[in-house]
Amino acid sequence: MTAESGRGSYWITTFGCQMNKADSERMAGILESMGYREAQAELEADLVLYNTCTIRDNAEQKVYSYLGRQAQRKRTNPNLTLVVAGCVAQQEGESLLRRVPELDLVMGPQHANRLDVLLAQVEQGQQVVATEEHHILEDITTARRDSSICGWVNVIYGCNERCTYCVVPSVRGKEQSRLPEAIKLEMEGLAAQGFKEITLLGQNVNAYHGVGFDGDWGLARLLRELAKVDGLERLRYTTSHPRDMDDDLIAAHGDLDKLMPYLHLPVQSGSDRILKRMNRGHTAEDYLRLIERLRDARPDLLLSSDFIAAFPEETEAEFEETLDLIRTVNFGMAYTFKYSSRPGTPAAERPDVADEIGDDRLRRLQILCTSQQRAAQENMVGKEVGVLFEKPGRQPGQFVGKSDHLHAVHVTAEGIAPGDLRRVRVTASGTNSLAADLL
Ligand code: SAH
Ligand code: SF4
Ligand code: F3S
Repeated sequence: MTAESGRGSYWITTFGCQMNKADSERMAGILESMGYREAQAELEADLVLYNTCTIRDNAEQKVYSYLGRQAQRKRTNPNLTLVVAGCVAQQEGESLLRRVPELDLVMGPQHANRLDVLLAQVEQGQQVVATEEHHILEDITTARRDSSICGWVNVIYGCNERCTYCVVPSVRGKEQSRLPEAIKLEMEGLAAQGFKEITLLGQNVNAYHGVGFDGDWGLARLLRELAKVDGLERLRYTTSHPRDMDDDLIAAHGDLDKLMPYLHLPVQSGSDRILKRMNRGHTAEDYLRLIERLRDARPDLLLSSDFIAAFPEETEAEFEETLDLIRTVNFGMAYTFKYSSRPGTPAAERPDVADEIGDDRLRRLQILCTSQQRAAQENMVGKEVGVLFEKPGRQPGQFVGKSDHLHAVHVTAEGIAPGDLRRVRVTASGTNSLAADLL
């Protein structure tokens, strides 16, 4: 940090998914290397950056309300630098400048590693829009990471799928896999700094296809290699597409001790007709077979998923097929969404389900998923699991960490330090966390 160069302070607000969180950490690293320091509060910052999300309409609208506030501030404080990065920036481009003329910089996600170059243009008095397709360069700045124990590492950018409801391919661009050597180097660096758990990131991470000096690398080969990095104790990856779960990746869940027994594998719907209209490329039955094979490889695997209620033209019977699939699989965790029509997507052309019906289906989905989630957590009582401790808890002597299945765990004991991975026995299940004793 070179705060003495006195560029002032920055504030970053991040919306959306882990991809955005990881991009924000890298952009914070760039700002600090330029001489900015983190502001104490948003309204005091000299540079405000919103890293935005447009996956659903409410995510996009939230950004405009935040921006309105800052635009007003800029009218009395012309030295304020206002930046919109991420997916709304990519989607709206120049039209954002028309909507909010106070903006200095509008930059798509592929430009995150170029923040310094773009800000240099802003400093020369330009209003800059950077949304053209861009080959993502390896970044040389060190990310300013929120945690020093659990970290994110991007392995693939973009998405080549064409799910008919989704804006991601149009805002994140085509898939670009990082080099396996570069990923391994980054992981070794993180291990040397004391990181214990790494999540490999991509919108469709199991489409990873790296070209190394010795040939092709899929995600399974990458995981096997990264599991050899000394000091890293836990690996996971997100988000994966059911169709890209190949044999080797399934086997890796059985072979690799460091690969956590938690898998986020979104299915969206349990109805074949809807899956087809979503262009997901598999049936409900395919998904169920896949889950069986994964559980054969790793019996204690905890599964999580995403569901969309009220996709255009979804009938009550089709919605109930989703509930049936959920009952069959029994998920440990789930993210439920009401369908939101996105401009430019094929599904937006189809007739929507009535709003009240959508609300009702979402509510029923949530009730079922919450009860499964609670049962999965209660089911841990009496079991022995690993916990990676991150920070002291609220009670004296208490420590908080995450279990192998990503449950929050509280332990009260002497001699625990952040970054310790310990075996515990779960003693009780609370509202959102487990209590346990050290073994
Ligand atoms: N790449 C990931 C997910 C990306 S977006 C995957 O393919 O699984 C995260 C989740 O948001 C999706 O899984 C989906 O459930 C939800 N989502 C995406 N577009 C949506 C839309 N238009 N309306 C409602 N939910 C949506
Ligand atoms: Fe969107 Fe589908 Fe790509 Fe996921 S796989 S990001 S849902 S297009
Ligand atoms: Fe949102 Fe962009 Fe992620 S639209 S979900 S921030 S890829």
